[in-house]
Amino acid sequence: MKIKTDSRLPGAHWKGIFLLLCMVPLGAAAERAALIQDNVAIFYPDDFDAEANLPSFALLEEPEEMGALPDDWQTHVEFSSAFGQSLAQVKVDSSTNLYGGGEALSRLLRKGGSQILWNTDNYGYGRDDGAKLYQSHPWVLAVRPDGSAYGVLADNTWKQTLSMSDDITFSSEGPAFRVLVIEGETPQEVLATLGDLTGKMPLPPRWSLGFQQSRYSYVPESRAKEIVDTYRNKKLPIDVLWFDIDYMDDFKVFTFDSEMYPDPKGMNAYLHQNKMKGIWMIDPGVGIDEGYSVYDSGTELDVWMKDAKGEVYEGEVWPGPTVFPDYTQQKTAEWWSELYQDFMAQDIDGVWNDMNEPADFTGPDGSVPEDNVHAGGLRLTPNGKPLPADSHLRYHNVYGMLMVKASRQGISDANPNKRPFVLTRANYIGGQRYAATWTGDNNSTWEHLRLSVPMSLNLGLSGQPFNGPDIGGFIGNASPELFGHWMAIGAFYPFARAHSAIESDDQEPWVFGREVERASRIALERRYRLMPYLYTQFYQASKTGVPVMQPTFFTDITDTSLRGEDRTFLFGPDLLVVPKWADKPSMPEGSWRVLSLVGENSLRDEFQPDLRIRDGAIVPAGKIIQSTDDYSLNELTLFVSLDADGNAQGQLYHDAGEGYGYQNGEYALIEFTASTSGDTVEISADKTEGNYPVEIGQLQIKLVTDDGVKIATGSYGEVIKIQP
Ligand code: NOJ
Repeated sequence: MKIKTDSRLPGAHWKGIFLLLCMVPLGAAAERAALIQDNVAIFYPDDFDAEANLPSFALLEEPEEMGALPDDWQTHVEFSSAFGQSLAQVKVDSSTNLYGGGEALSRLLRKGGSQILWNTDNYGYGRDDGAKLYQSHPWVLAVRPDGSAYGVLADNTWKQTLSMSDDITFSSEGPAFRVLVIEGETPQEVLATLGDLTGKMPLPPRWSLGFQQSRYSYVPESRAKEIVDTYRNKKLPIDVLWFDIDYMDDFKVFTFDSEMYPDPKGMNAYLHQNKMKGIWMIDPGVGIDEGYSVYDSGTELDVWMKDAKGEVYEGEVWPGPTVFPDYTQQKTAEWWSELYQDFMAQDIDGVWNDMNEPADFTGPDGSVPEDNVHAGGLRLTPNGKPLPADSHLRYHNVYGMLMVKASRQGISDANPNKRPFVLTRANYIGGQRYAATWTGDNNSTWEHLRLSVPMSLNLGLSGQPFNGPDIGGFIGNASPELFGHWMAIGAFYPFARAHSAIESDDQEPWVFGREVERASRIALERRYRLMPYLYTQFYQASKTGVPVMQPTFFTDITDTSLRGEDRTFLFGPDLLVVPKWADKPSMPEGSWRVLSLVGENSLRDEFQPDLRIRDGAIVPAGKIIQSTDDYSLNELTLFVSLDADGNAQGQLYHDAGEGYGYQNGEYALIEFTASTSGDTVEISADKTEGNYPVEIGQLQIKLVTDDGVKIATGSYGEVIKIQP
């Protein structure tokens, strides 16, 4: 057995050699394997200890075995142990490409890479050269040359290293763990099965797909209002303003500073009047302060995480001395959820859970000690087994996940008729069930702009479709040029939020001069015009688990020349985004005609990426709006690009954009078809599912051809004819 290491990891080389020399004779365990679905196998090491591993955090439910693996099952797992590490390995063919591993400071192709799965507050991705980031996804997606694929999921929360070379190796500091292997004819099929097993992102409120502006921090409230006014006056489309920690009273969660934000409800009302929403931060760390109700009630209920001696563990975060809720306890989760009742009553729209690795400024490696103790008792599902008591080493990687699970519950309890929105920094595979995510504290550099694309793609290929980086970069000062390019690309991240650090200069679109402001406006108008298409993609992701932002090789999974392309990317399956800085990208076969959405000519524009439409696609687009509050299907445009046979198809998902009516049939799924007979193209629309009213009225067709765009109009329900 070989252990490959990544030279980027300090000491990894020597550790690898050490393990290599020592491992083979020690405790190699035979596998026990079974099918749990036709295309999913589960592998157990001989010494599997259910108490030390289960219940699973990744899987929605405990799998039931269906029988033995068929003889031709291709991908097997070997288990072994050495020097306190439990290993699982899968041999990988040299021509197979590897992806995933969740959040990783890496290009798209992961072979040769290694990461430590240990959620870490990693400012500027500088700690350990970015070998460990904020989230843990013990998951690899492998794509063979013929496009068939498999996925490997280590059902293991313990601290572990994931290395990808000629083998996929998980080496864990915890006990031996089980591994699932998913087979699929395509990577999309594997991702869909991953979604079935680990859960999918619930359909978010439509407003959360709008553009969002943040800063650490907008204070006092007059400054926040100024930002709102400037966006509206300058006609820069936006949906959300974010409130970072300085709104709190002395960084105490669930409080408001009486000078900075004397009237949070009024602030939110101001946002709502301006067709915007407010998202406010809540961290896990609770400041130690007798008389502070959150600290007092938590202490009375005994919810805090304990140290190895059984004393309440005290760390240090923004409020100074801090205690940390132990979310493995049922009572803690319930207490935490309950805290959102009063908070959400301030008419808050969404919640930002930060620092939930958890970060601890004075703790070892920036977090709490590994031998801290969690009391357990929480049931992840109503009929599931309670979590056993165990060390922080076991529960560290799911600390953030448990926090956002309880947060989401609290928000839903407070506003049962609204779809909750939570953003989290730390998470674990399967955590897409509870929260969207961003990629933490990046730098305002070209390097991090470029890396943001493969980082977001690999998160999407690991089950988390709703993600994006801080647009403009968090740390440092973006140059006007960098900011302009970042906004231009940022319009196509699934989660599109600009954010900057407390030390950074102002970083809103208008501070960089007229050119960048104009570029930002075009970028945002492009996103808002595509809202019907984008919302449809989110609906699809919530149904199938296939990401919204997809790697370019998804255009043709058998074209191996596209496998490493990670400067261009797909925005849904039908639009290819080609950044200005993508030098000679590998382009998919086909015409991929350039779209102009808002009058822009991307071929001549300094900032805007080309947006290319797939041959055979119909992309629905709306009006340019300043907020999703004004979303409607009135004046819908269909961008049509015919395939070689003169045909095209598209889809539109529609519902109220909020609430749960869609789960009871209050939605509409509309299929668009274009076909050519003689010299006429006929375009029709059919509602295929749901009973939500569709008020499309006028429909404009823009037929994108090699000789320019042909336009026709008609009414929804009629066949519209156009001569190419
Ligand atoms: C760390 C987060 O990553 C960052 O986005 C935030 O601004 C600061 N914490 C302050 O809350």
